[in-house]
Amino acid sequence: MPAVLNYEPLVLLPRREAPKFTPIQEEILALKRERNAVILAHNYQIEAIQQVADYVGDSLGLSYQAQSAKADVILFCGVHFMAETAKIVNPGRTVLLPDLDAGCSLSDSCPADRLAAYKAANPNVYVVAYINCSAGVKALSDVICTSGNAVKMVNQIPADRDILFVPDQNLGQWVSQKTGRQMRLWPGSCYAHVMFTVQAIEKVRAQFPGAPVVAHPECVQAVRDIADEVCSTELMVKFAKETPADRIIVVTESGMLHRLRKEVPHKTFIAGPTDTCACNDCRFMKMNTIEKVRDALKTMSPEIDVPEPIRSAALVPIQRMLDWSKR
Ligand code: 13P
Ligand code: SF4
Repeated sequence: MPAVLNYEPLVLLPRREAPKFTPIQEEILALKRERNAVILAHNYQIEAIQQVADYVGDSLGLSYQAQSAKADVILFCGVHFMAETAKIVNPGRTVLLPDLDAGCSLSDSCPADRLAAYKAANPNVYVVAYINCSAGVKALSDVICTSGNAVKMVNQIPADRDILFVPDQNLGQWVSQKTGRQMRLWPGSCYAHVMFTVQAIEKVRAQFPGAPVVAHPECVQAVRDIADEVCSTELMVKFAKETPADRIIVVTESGMLHRLRKEVPHKTFIAGPTDTCACNDCRFMKMNTIEKVRDALKTMSPEIDVPEPIRSAALVPIQRMLDWSKR
């Protein structure tokens, strides 16, 4: 077991005053009006990006927002599969992603050709795909899920179907435990969330006695098992509002702390640490910088395109998810 390094915990104290916009943020807001753009940002984006966004949320909320967007341009501040999903559900808009290299280790772990080969060998399998996958994988799937609705999706699949869950084995294992459904699990994982360890979380917990631990389901089972709550990033906001505790340990990517501090300004949030660092950044999410956001609106690039017939095929399981989510 690696030794826990001697670092200070990362603590975001209650916010007293609203932040002012910087010149580059003012420039982005002006460009946004000029281009008739809407900025959608994931909870893991840096604070400066979250501040200029029209909507900040989890993958599920962002999918609904993308589908209903009326603006000419959707500037998606997140990772590639999220911007791709926006284009799939709303193809008439120009979709921009500040950095085309902002990928995802989960998405990379499940190439469409390998899933196609698996399906060819197992033709009756019902494929549930976590939204963290490519358009090509979505096009081969029966229903999409996010961490916020995965249990609800799996509960709606006919009991006699044999389920393959791709690409996150940790989320899949958690859903299987919550639903009692046996599932075959694709061996993918989030490189960032698997870095949280029991010893690192227990250490910070000892420093903040009584503070509940809320963890993302992409964490490994041992970490999920010691958490007080396991949920999507959006549900973390609900948890933070509802818990009587005024200090909360947040075991997910560090950007989440900014969203939490905005929504629940009177509470203190402590970053879940790893064995080697006081917080945990997703290197892909952090490829988006405030300068790249400005440049994307200036140059109207990089633009996301999802060619037919992949787009239409991928829309079917996404739409099924959006419909089943409302049930
Ligand atoms: P959420 O949908 O819970 O925000 O998760 C997205 C993600 O990529 C987590 O790593
Ligand atoms: Fe992918 Fe993990 Fe980054 Fe989320 S945190 S985008 S799952 S690599």
